[in-house]
Amino acid sequence: MTDLFNKFDMSQSSLGQHADYIEDYFMFPKLEGELGPRMNFNGKPVLNWSLNNYLGLANHPEVRRVDGEAASEWGLAYPMGARMMSGNTVQHIELEREIASFISKEDVMLLNFGYQGVLSIIDAVVDRRDVIVYDAESHASILDGVRLHMGKRFVFPHNNIENLEKQLKRAEKIANETGGGILVITEGVFGMSGNMGSLAEIVVLKEKYNFRLFVDDAHGFGTMGATGAGAGEELGVQDDIDLYFSTFAKSMASIGAFVGGDASVIKYLRYNLRSQIFAKSLPMPLVIGALKRLELLREQPEHKENLWKITNALQSGLKENGFNIGTTQSPVTPVVLSGSVAEACNMVYDLRENYGVFCSMVIYPVIPKGTIILRLIPTAVHTLEDVKETIETFKELKSRLDDGVYLREEILAVTK
Ligand SMILES: Cc1ncc(COP(=O)(O)O)c(C=O)c1O
Repeated sequence: MTDLFNKFDMSQSSLGQHADYIEDYFMFPKLEGELGPRMNFNGKPVLNWSLNNYLGLANHPEVRRVDGEAASEWGLAYPMGARMMSGNTVQHIELEREIASFISKEDVMLLNFGYQGVLSIIDAVVDRRDVIVYDAESHASILDGVRLHMGKRFVFPHNNIENLEKQLKRAEKIANETGGGILVITEGVFGMSGNMGSLAEIVVLKEKYNFRLFVDDAHGFGTMGATGAGAGEELGVQDDIDLYFSTFAKSMASIGAFVGGDASVIKYLRYNLRSQIFAKSLPMPLVIGALKRLELLREQPEHKENLWKITNALQSGLKENGFNIGTTQSPVTPVVLSGSVAEACNMVYDLRENYGVFCSMVIYPVIPKGTIILRLIPTAVHTLEDVKETIETFKELKSRLDDGVYLREEILAVTK
């Protein structure tokens, strides 16, 4: 027997073992100043490509005004209690109706947080007789929801439709034995690679197999589709998505989330979604702030147009200069490079300190050893000058990486 906390040995943790020197810099960095492309990091100005503020609404003057007014009028407490008990308001219902109409679903239910919402939706819609089939590159909230499932689950390699069909055959066999149903889960836009889920191909399989489709469109809502209603709209399959989820944490630049579907399904969730039944209702300023954001999303298409102007300039500029940006179909822009974890840290240090560019870095163990991904998130409030500056910087950075500059021990103090 041992003390429970003995296992909290940081030297045994793949990321934790580096905590002493990566904290505050690579991990838990503090970006300061107004939210946007120009912020301060480590006491210096940086050109920032690390916020999921796709439409630039985080600092939109109308949004800031409405957030402030709602906070001063209502405070953060109102309404008290869970929706079901004492936490319902006209504004919560209005927001749900507005979102439902925007995403072309009969009804919508608000969620306090995306992560908890996804987990709880999965928990509410399946029981031990049911089978889950899900994409291997799904977000942690989906994976953790699947972990709660007491029945069978099958995973298909990312967007591999042939394999998905194989898993559906296995799932069908089990569901026939148990008398259960099948839930397929994927994403509209995958946040690391920028790939869209193969939704059109997946819904075709509905003709052969009896399953319900749950799509997490955290990165697609506001960025994809003619009106910004997301990946389902973009791919012409919104009606075939049985449970459409998104968070307010990205395009909506806030906190909260929602799930939309047929009225009977949403009604069932209202009475069975444990993350909402047993939690305080979303505070009023967040609801009123979300109504304003949704209004801007619907009535000011220029935000999405700017986002795509910047996205297209950034992605074509990177490709023309020989960079590998994977298979992205969305604003998410991964720049795939080769090198060790140490080289990645040294390169990002150089990028931030000497070139004044801030983006997030993805390294082993999140991706295979030897691969480095620098992930750029363009937004509507970046400029073409920002894109030019970044591409020039990346060209220099790549040649320094290829020259082995970042292999040197003393690189953490490098200057241009
Ligand atoms: C794909 C995906 N699903 C769910 C979530 C969780 O949303 P929230 O931040 O609202 O908890 C995120 C991240 O925010 C996400 O990227």
